[in-house]
Amino acid sequence: MSIKAIDKASIHHITSGQVVIDLQTAVKELVENSVDAGATSIEVRFRNYGLSSIEVVDNGCGIAEDDYESIALKHHTSKLETFSDLTSVETFGFRGEALSSLCALSEQVSISTATASTTPMGTSLVLDSSGKLLKRSAVARNQGTSITLTNIFSPLAVRRKELERNIKREFAKALSLLNAYALGPCAAAPGIRLTVTNQQEKGGKSTPIRTLGLPSCRESVTALWGPKSLDNIVDVDITFEVEREKVVLKRLQNQELEPFTVQVRGLTSKFSVGCGRAGTDRQFFYVNGRPCNMNKIQKCFNEVYRSFNATQAPFIVANIMMPTHIYDVNVSPDKRTILLHSEANLISALKVAFFFSLPYVIGLTTHIRLLSRFILRHPGQPLISGRRSRDPKHLRRAYFPWRRLAKLPVIATRSSPKRTMKDHLPLLHPHPQPLLSALPAPL
Ligand SMILES: Nc1ncnc2c1ncn2[C@@H]1O[C@H](COP(=O)(O)OP(=O)(O)OP(=O)(O)O)[C@@H](O)[C@H]1O
Ligand SMILES: [Mg+2]
Repeated sequence: MSIKAIDKASIHHITSGQVVIDLQTAVKELVENSVDAGATSIEVRFRNYGLSSIEVVDNGCGIAEDDYESIALKHHTSKLETFSDLTSVETFGFRGEALSSLCALSEQVSISTATASTTPMGTSLVLDSSGKLLKRSAVARNQGTSITLTNIFSPLAVRRKELERNIKREFAKALSLLNAYALGPCAAAPGIRLTVTNQQEKGGKSTPIRTLGLPSCRESVTALWGPKSLDNIVDVDITFEVEREKVVLKRLQNQELEPFTVQVRGLTSKFSVGCGRAGTDRQFFYVNGRPCNMNKIQKCFNEVYRSFNATQAPFIVANIMMPTHIYDVNVSPDKRTILLHSEANLISALKVAFFFSLPYVIGLTTHIRLLSRFILRHPGQPLISGRRSRDPKHLRRAYFPWRRLAKLPVIATRSSPKRTMKDHLPLLHPHPQPLLSALPAPL
């Protein structure tokens, strides 16, 4: 077959299917638009778990009349003008692709919207599958926007069938992602009230999520899982510096040589045995407030946690704050993957910082006890128990946990454990003095 150009409508279908891959991404895009519009209240209404329709109602800025024609056209956005703006983007959306893709993937997309200047009058808009405006009419409406998708994925027969078959599971995934928004963007100042309902075809209406709209992550946890779920949860607030990696430095040709500062804030389970959870189901990660998948960072948190509480996984909400030029959000069409520059350095610094964040959280004495237990669990007892070993192999093994945590070079030394720990703690910890004075004496 000779090479020919694909027609525009087919291209639109093909690329749209990559932007909105499942039920949860469809809902996510609508909720993100509402957050970007400055809403303080967002209601997500599923009908029949989302199979019949999904409606997202907000009280944000609304859509101006001039934008009606272009709202759902591909690559039309109010958030980004040039490619270089992408390094400083702080809104969730930036590509102008979500609504246009949703139009291609639903039976119908309708919008009702009003701005501060038009309320109590608003406009109802119906869009066709290419995102063009089909119909408009006047409606009564308070300031804000409602967007309704009917029969999602009906133009893609296979995906629709799959969705119908797995609808309960897909709905659960969407709820889990909405939990991430309830704990992250909706719990940031000024606070967004998030309500999620599901009206079943036959039967009742349920409200799986209802938050109060307070700017507090703890309040959101209480709203989602009840006040008991805050037992054994402590705050995380750590700050550390990350050295740029050599490869990145080379590419940047010596611009921005400075290390950058990372701050991690959120909540986690106490590090004592029994205080964690059976699985990793309640772990939420954000980069500058944007919920995302961060497998390596998640692994790092779990590894450190497991060295204290070997059989459980922690509850974690971790917002990783860093300069916007350090990462790239434009990696996957669903914007859930984030490419971090100097990732390996960031992870090893995070490990050490998270590990040592404990004394401030659970008290120094408990920390020292846990710390010694951590070291004792690893091969290295001869050194820690104070038996002076002259065998460099022993020493190397004893330093293994430290080395792994901080990428320390192995130092073969014959000094006592107390001395060697003293020598190295300043390298690992910004305020080592209280730790040094409380180090357990060699047995
Ligand atoms: N709920 C809303 N309230 C106000 N304006 C909205 C709302 N939803 C969409 N818009 C407007 O429609 C435009 C297109 O939305 P769309 O989601 O398609 O693109 P985007 O958010 O700019 O980028 P992305 O494709 O990355 O999400 C937005 O830039 C915004 O101006
Ligand atoms: Mg968007």
